[in-house]
Amino acid sequence: MKLQSKLPSVGTTIFSQMSQLATEHQAINLSQGFPDFPCDPLLPELVFQASQRGLNQYAPMPGVLALREQIAALTQRCYSRVVCPERQITVTSGATEALFVAVQALVRSGDEVILFDPAYDSYQPAVELAGGRTVHIPLQPPMYRVDWQAVERQISNKTRLIMVNSPHNPTGMVFSREDWLALEALVVKHRLFCISDEVYEHMVFDGQARHSANQFAQLAERTVVVSSFGKTFHVTGWKLGYAVAPVELSVEFRKIHQYVTFSSFTPAQQAIAELMQKKPELVTQLADFYQQKRDYFRTLLQSSGFRLLPCQGTYFQLADYSALSALDDVSFCRQLTADYKVAAIPLSVFYRLPPQQQVIRFCFAKEQQTLQQAAEQLCRVSN
Ligand SMILES: Cc1ncc(COP(=O)(O)O)c(C=O)c1O
Repeated sequence: MKLQSKLPSVGTTIFSQMSQLATEHQAINLSQGFPDFPCDPLLPELVFQASQRGLNQYAPMPGVLALREQIAALTQRCYSRVVCPERQITVTSGATEALFVAVQALVRSGDEVILFDPAYDSYQPAVELAGGRTVHIPLQPPMYRVDWQAVERQISNKTRLIMVNSPHNPTGMVFSREDWLALEALVVKHRLFCISDEVYEHMVFDGQARHSANQFAQLAERTVVVSSFGKTFHVTGWKLGYAVAPVELSVEFRKIHQYVTFSSFTPAQQAIAELMQKKPELVTQLADFYQQKRDYFRTLLQSSGFRLLPCQGTYFQLADYSALSALDDVSFCRQLTADYKVAAIPLSVFYRLPPQQQVIRFCFAKEQQTLQQAAEQLCRVSN
């Protein structure tokens, strides 16, 4: 059979490849972004209790109402935006599903979608499956900031959507208020839509103000805001996320969501709703929690040959290895895994046209001892 691929350029993701290589070489896996520490102990108990109480059938298509109410309360607390839990919030199977569904709802055949490289890997295939075309704007080291005038130059009469991600994976860059205002101005002026991937929204460091598309009224009117409980509550394997959107957009979003998954795992939705109600501090303490890990990891690497780039948010640290090797970043990551037993992610895979840089990404969502062991091995790397 000769099957014509709908995604001819897609292979196994770099995350799967590096994780597999890490297992083969028994290396410490700082490549894929997931915590190696447990979630709050109450959470598994609450799931168990929900299941025992008989909450084992389909959740309502937009999500368990108690959870949507908690999301609405959190959105109001964090961003002073009032959203209707009944009509504007949809619970999804991870942020990945929300992103995919939002793209299918918004992008029509022939539409152009502006992305910033390095871009999270699910954006482009989602756009292509919707019949759209991605327009890539590369962000440059070491700050990876957006030049909004350059963005405006890329807007054509086919542009439909801008996809943004702040705090940004993999760079750790966080949009300032000025960035959000510039984005809002473009979206309004050119009547575009926006998907705002905010899965790391609660991980912004050094007392920097935390912003969201939720805070900018005219932008929010044309945006699907996406977040992830996997990131916020250290349960990436649960694949639970959500989308907040204006009513009209939510209607279209739900038409697709109901035929992709219909609904997500009921006991987990119930458990997270109860956890959010019982322990609101878990969200407010998250930035400090990860800032300490960032600082610890950075301190340990001070005597290494890596040059650490700024990290304003997320749980990723970029490192420039140009003083250590002339290899390209994919080869260097392979060598690091095989010879020094630490797995990382090369930055070039997140770009359509990678700029000249020798930079890799480490995930610091790890126990102290994991970070310490990894750093010890990384400090041995020499040229
Ligand atoms: C920027 C970004 N968006 C979306 C996702 C997907 O989130 P989820 O695991 O909730 O599907 C991730 C996960 O790594 C991410 O880094």
